[in-house]
Amino acid sequence: MGTGVGRTALLVAHARALESRRPRPLAVDPFAEHFVRAAPGCADWPRDPSRIAPGDPVWDRLAGYFALRTRVLDVHLLSATLAGTRQVVLLGAGLDARAHRLPWPAGTTVWEVDRPEVLRFKQDVLDGLAAAPRADRRPVPADLRADWTGPLTATGLDPTRPVAWLAEGLLLYLPAAAELRLATALNALSAPGSTLAYEVKTAPESPSVRSSPVYAATRTRLGIDLLALFAPGPRPDTAATLTGLGWTTTTRTPFDHSPAFRPEPHDPFAANRWITCTKHPHV
Ligand SMILES: C[S@@+](CC[C@H](N)C(=O)[O-])C[C@H]1O[C@@H](n2cnc3c(N)ncnc32)[C@H](O)[C@@H]1O
Repeated sequence: MGTGVGRTALLVAHARALESRRPRPLAVDPFAEHFVRAAPGCADWPRDPSRIAPGDPVWDRLAGYFALRTRVLDVHLLSATLAGTRQVVLLGAGLDARAHRLPWPAGTTVWEVDRPEVLRFKQDVLDGLAAAPRADRRPVPADLRADWTGPLTATGLDPTRPVAWLAEGLLLYLPAAAELRLATALNALSAPGSTLAYEVKTAPESPSVRSSPVYAATRTRLGIDLLALFAPGPRPDTAATLTGLGWTTTTRTPFDHSPAFRPEPHDPFAANRWITCTKHPHV
């Protein structure tokens, strides 16, 4: 949990913990600080947002990006439930506590798919808090590069009913072929009316972007080398694949969602896209 891509889940959780303590937060996650406190190697991460320098590459800019992403995807998932969907699947769930913190309608089931060690760590912390989920929560330990649909249906996912899928902060770490396999696999489990939201980078980043302060500071101060963790090589056009499978897709940049989050020179978020999709019946 404390190393590699699992540590990125702690980084995102800490961003949510900080956001929870800001005035007018975009999201409040009372569980996030407990995950970070329980993990080794995070004791010097700042707890008080008022002491963080404006423009700090990690705890202002990167954390601000994660906070905005959390808010946008909270709204997206709750909108899917307002439209009647009662099955929610968090792919690469990490330390996402949405099952515990969002006001799900009665009858909602939330599946959390991630690697076994991440889900074990998460469960230990939640058990220690005696935290009760606000939906029927079902952790599914699985490697998303291998067969994960079997374990998901074995724990009750019903492919005849719509699903709201989320891949937040996941596909950047998956090889291109695994991303495409994941898209076609989830399509096979998606009844008409299903939704999907995911985050991608449109292309590998230029050397000037790769040397941006966000990446450098995350590496030197936190020991998290995001660039080394991102899957190398060209990215697939998953939106085109989904369109061919009968989904409509909408692509937005993070900057489209908030005037407060502005592009900067050599911006590490310039290639990021948040894509939302809905599956329609074939005509
Ligand atoms: C950056 S974290 C994001 C976690 C969560 N979605 C969030 O936004 O808070 C990426 C997560 O993807 C998970 N992950 C990456 N590759 C995976 C794989 N092949 N199989 C299962 N989970 C994976 C990691 O364990 C980690 O929890």
